[in-house]
Amino acid sequence: MEKGDPAHRNPFRLRAHSTLRHFAIAFVGLVCFFTSTVYVYGPTVWESHLQIHQLPPHAADTLARCRSLSQTPPTTASSKRTVSDRFAPGTRPHFLKNARVWTGNKNGTEVIIADILLESGLIKGVGRISPSFLAAYADELVVMDLKGAWVTPGIVDLHSHIGDSSSPELKGASSDDNSRKGPILPWLRALDGLNTHDDSFELSISGGVTTALVLPGSANAIGGQGFTIKLRPTDEKSPTSMLLEPPYNVNVSFPDDGILRWRQMKHACGKDKELSDHCPVDDVFRIEAKIQDEYCQQVLAGNTQVLSKGPFPQDLQWESLVDVLRGRVKVHVHCYEAVDLDDVVRLTNEFQFPIAAFHHAHEAYLVPTVLEKAFGRTPAVAMFATNARYKREAYRGSEFAPRLLAQSGIPVVMKSDHPVTDSRYLLYEAQQAFVYGLPDNLAIASVTSTPAEIMGMGHRIGYIKEGWDADIVVWDSHPLALGATPTQVFIDGIPQLTSPHVVSKPRSFQSKPRVPDYAEEARNAIKYEGLPPLEPRASRSETVLFTNVRSVLSKVGTNVQALFTETSSRKTVSVLVDRGEVKCVGMDCTRLKDGSDVQVVIDLEGGSISPGLVTYGSPIGLEEIEAERSTNDGVAPDPLSGDVPSIVGGDGALIRAVDGLQFGGRSALLAYRAGVTTGISTPKHYGFFGGLSASFSTGVSHRLKPGAIVQEVNALHVSIKHTGGVSVSTQVASLRRLLVHPAEAYESDTGRYFREIRAVWCYTCFIDPILMKSTLQGRLTLVVETDNADIIATIIHLKKEVEQMFGASMKWTISGGAEAHLLAKELAQAKVGVVQIPSRPFPYGWDQRRILPGPPLSKQSSLMTLIENNVTVGIGIMEAWSARNTRFDLAWIAIEAGGRLSKADAIALASTNLDILLGGTIEDNTAGELVATSGGDLLDVSSRVVAVISPQRGLVDML
Ligand SMILES: *[C@@H]1O[C@H](CO)[C@@H](O)[C@H](O)[C@H]1NC(C)=O
Ligand SMILES: *[C@@H]1O[C@H](CO)[C@@H](O)[C@H](O)[C@H]1NC(C)=O
Ligand SMILES: *[C@@H]1O[C@H](CO)[C@@H](O)[C@H](O)[C@H]1NC(C)=O
Repeated sequence: MEKGDPAHRNPFRLRAHSTLRHFAIAFVGLVCFFTSTVYVYGPTVWESHLQIHQLPPHAADTLARCRSLSQTPPTTASSKRTVSDRFAPGTRPHFLKNARVWTGNKNGTEVIIADILLESGLIKGVGRISPSFLAAYADELVVMDLKGAWVTPGIVDLHSHIGDSSSPELKGASSDDNSRKGPILPWLRALDGLNTHDDSFELSISGGVTTALVLPGSANAIGGQGFTIKLRPTDEKSPTSMLLEPPYNVNVSFPDDGILRWRQMKHACGKDKELSDHCPVDDVFRIEAKIQDEYCQQVLAGNTQVLSKGPFPQDLQWESLVDVLRGRVKVHVHCYEAVDLDDVVRLTNEFQFPIAAFHHAHEAYLVPTVLEKAFGRTPAVAMFATNARYKREAYRGSEFAPRLLAQSGIPVVMKSDHPVTDSRYLLYEAQQAFVYGLPDNLAIASVTSTPAEIMGMGHRIGYIKEGWDADIVVWDSHPLALGATPTQVFIDGIPQLTSPHVVSKPRSFQSKPRVPDYAEEARNAIKYEGLPPLEPRASRSETVLFTNVRSVLSKVGTNVQALFTETSSRKTVSVLVDRGEVKCVGMDCTRLKDGSDVQVVIDLEGGSISPGLVTYGSPIGLEEIEAERSTNDGVAPDPLSGDVPSIVGGDGALIRAVDGLQFGGRSALLAYRAGVTTGISTPKHYGFFGGLSASFSTGVSHRLKPGAIVQEVNALHVSIKHTGGVSVSTQVASLRRLLVHPAEAYESDTGRYFREIRAVWCYTCFIDPILMKSTLQGRLTLVVETDNADIIATIIHLKKEVEQMFGASMKWTISGGAEAHLLAKELAQAKVGVVQIPSRPFPYGWDQRRILPGPPLSKQSSLMTLIENNVTVGIGIMEAWSARNTRFDLAWIAIEAGGRLSKADAIALASTNLDILLGGTIEDNTAGELVATSGGDLLDVSSRVVAVISPQRGLVDML
């Protein structure tokens, strides 16, 4: 984990320095030990000529130790199991009839229609299972007819901090994933911090995740040992009882049954670590290695005197690193850039240890041959789909990395880094990788069989095969269809969803989605070393004709409406655009009124024209690389913490986002290329005052270009949260005072803008308050950033209080709103809208813990609850990289609504509704910017955005 906790979001925390030396030091020490101990592997004659009674009690153990040094864990199931070691007695056998099974066999290409029998925690059969065989189970057997539903192995997460960085985040129980005690902590165990009350267990299971490798964080060169767990609750309720094949070291220092199991170790290189102090570990290692070597050599040569001096000398601090060199540890290296990948690969060859996977590794796709040179075997790459640019090392990250790595034959794993991304949606990472060109077989494998193999558990999880663990997900659609949701999840044969809520989906969702051809973009990612040019170019002609258009949606007033949608007939229309304005929509739009010819004709292949989307909630346009201060606008001062300099106006200063905007950033341009034409940003702030938001075009190169600034001032933002600092009641008191006594508060920007919210000049109150009551409405929107239902209730109350006091209605919006669904009716009555951020909620902190998770855990989602109570709703994002995924966020909402929300209504959530909620000027006469998609509409994964039609700028941008 490297981000996700508030500390991480503060970029000042990170310091750049090279810690390669820590690696080298550790391994220099170890290799001395290793190369000297290899001599002890040979056969010895020691037992034969020594009398047992001459030996100290530890002799047998010591001999076994010296002999075991050459063993490695088995990679296949040792024998056919009849009962799983994780079987929970009392679990009923389940018979799943008529499943469409992705087995994981044949390189992930095998899909069979089959029945599956789950019993004793195992998959007891896959195929046609004879009734006579089943008869033996009699009434005990639970029979489920899946009617052809898709079934995959349980999702396996190769990189999680679930339990260790638990949710909601609380200081006493969370953030146990990083230790700041030194650069090399191989003795630290992720298991020791695993909080069994993490809300994420249930949530992630509801997304199909059954197994996770819980790794320590990345604050250290060697962060410690990872552990593989199954996510289900156990009777024992302990972290230990969640473990899957724990290595013997979990509770003893030496295996009693002689069977080794894989250990997991987290290393990190590059700029993530904070601990730059160089420990003298090399000396420790050299000395220990020498002592061990001399001892063991003599023991195995038959020298009993050395035995009587004491047992096998071992320092528990370093024993796990010794195992690394013996090939008994799956080493997971958090490593990003070519320089660091290359360094580590050199080390693997110098000290001869294999690496299981490079994690994050945003530049791995640029240097596949470096990876191939790693010692032993080519490491897998475990990555995010589109989460990139959060620090310099991730700046060259590409959505085409999975596809390009797969082309080079490198194993591809998609991982969550939970809670950095919510592992409930790990399959979504695979879906995105698939959209950008990872073949379907490898995409499903990237979250099932491939991670299972990489963590050394492929002999029991990651496949649907007889004898494997009964970890199975039944899906409501093809697993690569956006929004695929489990209808049941089995872990160790135990159904995890008690009353799953299932949404009905169109038949088409049962087939593999069609995806665009991004071959050229993928080639460019390599050609331009991860930084392909993203700037749009305007059409060379002022007139552009879009043909073969299957739907046309447009802003009409405050709504999005369908001007044309294809009905059952295969009818399509053409759309004629001149200087950025739509001149004609219909079957016979071929030339302009003046008869001039159209020079540029674009076949949309059944695509669409729809309103450009708006992104809000992240610092897009104000920061390029989150962790790089020099790329960021910085943080606005906060009057409640008393640190506003007088030169800017002291407490009365109000910061405007428009003054800090930067154009041409990669997240903004990628958003533009994905149909998000407008960004709304608020000055970055950690305290109460958010300042004034601004809206701008994501596709222009600088502020002075026409259309660059959509609106200089959108809304005034305040943030009311449980922060542990200034109390919530103090924050509310400040807001009340600013509303009630703005002039008295400050003869300043703050006073002026707060009067705009209330729209009552104080002297008018005295002149004719009764008259004012009937007509006044606030001009400026107040956005209150909060998630907590109690705070929202207080805000609703405050709004009534102020409105009654001054007789003016005000425009207020809740931004965040994780718990807003609890007050849906009250919000509607108070005419307070909600921008929910993120659109698929997660209980990050205490203020957000009462989320409504949506299917399959609850029938309703929080968004639909608000919408159906007539609350005006928009959606937002938390981090700028995800602006590009807005259209998929909307598609997800539409799919999950199961037909209760049209595509136009879904698009409104990130266009007209955001305009309304964030103080946008609604102009009836202009439709605003439009985006053209080919191969499907804006919400289809099969489509790509090919053009932006801009009336403001009088042009069509070609993408
Ligand atoms: C596995 O599938 C991928 C993609 O479909 C293909 O490129 C690769 O060659 C296959 N590997 C094997 C061993 O068949
Ligand atoms: C250690 O744990 C393993 C796996 O849970 C168990 O089988 C074994 O009995 C334990 N050994 C001791 C000494 O507790
Ligand atoms: C929402 O508004 C519609 C249309 O005005 C109305 O029919 C419906 O009853 C309202 N729903 C609620 C929960 O108030």
